[in-house]
Amino acid sequence: MKVIVTKNYEDMSKKAADIVAEEIKKNKNIVLGLPTGGTPKGMYKELINKYNKNEVDFSYVKTFNLDEYVGLDGNNPNSYRYFMNETFFDHVNIPKENTHIPDGMVKDPDGYGKMYDEMIKQTGGIDLQILGIGTNGHIAFNEPDEALGIGTSVVELTKSTIESNSRFFDSIDDVPKKAITMGIGSIMKAKKIILLASGESKKEIMNKLLNTTSVTTYLPASLLHLHNDVTVIMDEDAN
Ligand code: GLP
Repeated sequence: MKVIVTKNYEDMSKKAADIVAEEIKKNKNIVLGLPTGGTPKGMYKELINKYNKNEVDFSYVKTFNLDEYVGLDGNNPNSYRYFMNETFFDHVNIPKENTHIPDGMVKDPDGYGKMYDEMIKQTGGIDLQILGIGTNGHIAFNEPDEALGIGTSVVELTKSTIESNSRFFDSIDDVPKKAITMGIGSIMKAKKIILLASGESKKEIMNKLLNTTSVTTYLPASLLHLHNDVTVIMDEDAN
């Protein structure tokens, strides 16, 4: 695990956007794995700036998002589809049909999860996966537990995740209790991974992650120690 500590959130976001833009320049058909949450917002803003300055072209880029709440459709402002359109996709030249986000409204989530993983495989797999981290160590919505899903599937959200994410909803009761998420296996298949962490609230979990000497499903991000191309970009507040 390579670790880069930046002096602040802005620098973390710029560093991440520089890497994404460089990888797109190397491979215009790149497949990106993308996260939601507060952490990557600055990176998306920087990528939009680069696009506006003609420094990056998203015409052939394909994206797969990590997760979506069960029960929220793409028109719901709290859905991750809405977030991605509003925060990023609507501001760059990526064809909408190249952007994929798990569908939180499907009737058959198991079959759907398999199909989502198959779609990723058909594109050649994820070249660059960007991740955030939950305060409990989750990546995507893979919550600490005795076992973690390998492929994309439906998971129950933990109380701590529901509490953390309630800041985006009118009330905690509005936070969905389930989500559909790429599994640890889907994430680990990415060729290159960047994990972003920012702010005091991530300090404790980042300290655990970077200093752990074993991997455990109770700290899902620890599985990333088994991947051979992971770069952590974190700001000083999270360090
Ligand atoms: C959600 C998402 C994760 C994200 C996490 C942290 O639970 N499913 O992918 O990493 O939130 O979010 P934030 O960046 O807002 O701290």
